[in-house]
Amino acid sequence: MPASGTFDCHNAPALPFDAAILGAIVVKSVTLHPQKGNPPPRLAETPSGLINSIGIPSPGIDVFIQQILPVYTALGSPVIVSVAGYSANEYAELVAALDGLKSVEAIELNLSCPNIRYHRMPAQDKDLLQECVAMARGATAKPLWAKLSPDVPSVGEMAQAAEVAGADACTVINTTSAMMVNIHTLRPMIGATRGGLSGPALLPIALAAVWDATHHANIPVIGVGGISTVEDVVAVFAAGASAVQIGTASFYDPMAMPRLIGELDRYLKDKGIASIEELKAKIRQSQTPSAEEV
Ligand SMILES: Cc1cc2nc3c(=O)[nH]c(=O)nc-3n(C[C@H](O)[C@H](O)[C@H](O)COP(=O)(O)O)c2cc1C
Repeated sequence: MPASGTFDCHNAPALPFDAAILGAIVVKSVTLHPQKGNPPPRLAETPSGLINSIGIPSPGIDVFIQQILPVYTALGSPVIVSVAGYSANEYAELVAALDGLKSVEAIELNLSCPNIRYHRMPAQDKDLLQECVAMARGATAKPLWAKLSPDVPSVGEMAQAAEVAGADACTVINTTSAMMVNIHTLRPMIGATRGGLSGPALLPIALAAVWDATHHANIPVIGVGGISTVEDVVAVFAAGASAVQIGTASFYDPMAMPRLIGELDRYLKDKGIASIEELKAKIRQSQTPSAEEV
């Protein structure tokens, strides 16, 4: 799947590949009311990743449903709508607005954007996270995914809290808070000073977070963060993920997702593994301690 915010084809000209090959499409987070997003510059490159502070520009949920959602549903893959609220009530309202729509397969609760002015970030506050998930749960029977932040002492505890509050899956992880300085102006490179770091630098952080989440919670974990090669995909599965999302890699290689789908197929064939399910079974087997180790 594309990671939320990295596959905005309603603004782009033509897609360079057939999006029906994707497992699902996760759309850019949408807020309840329209908002403009953060002041520019919104992007800064680092030696091993990208800092963004887009700040979720959004047309609001009503315009999204009428004008943007149909563009994604026409692409032929299940559509996952990501929502970002400023309170538990807003998450419930957003989810309620999507609940009756057949074209929405699941809802990802973005509880972890480092670039919007929450009073508190839900993914960093267990009580608030549970309130947001529980209120959203009360507003829909659709699958609910809770997107978590790496910027906490224990992603595992947050995943467990999300599960208890009614999440069906966790998406692990959002970007991590970061900053770059323009050495000529001696000012922060990002208009909002800080942003969220994504790309290759995030992979080891994502691996630890996915491992932590899968060892604390009993719901599927969707791994995201710094994935750009087939080895990265397999590593994220080995850390416990049930599925993966690709973000920044698509910016420097727009064919990253179809390439990785093809490379994963070849990887499985080369290893004589029939399916991703069999790969996951092998991973579980290799991580089960042997009699001597116990
Ligand atoms: C430009 C940009 C915009 C993003 N917008 C969103 C967003 O709207 N909602 C969200 O949940 N995550 C958003 N993210 C975070 C990604 O979905 C993903 O969690 C993160 O970038 C790590 O994956 P990656 O290293 O493969 O990019 C955004 C990331 C980038 C780079």
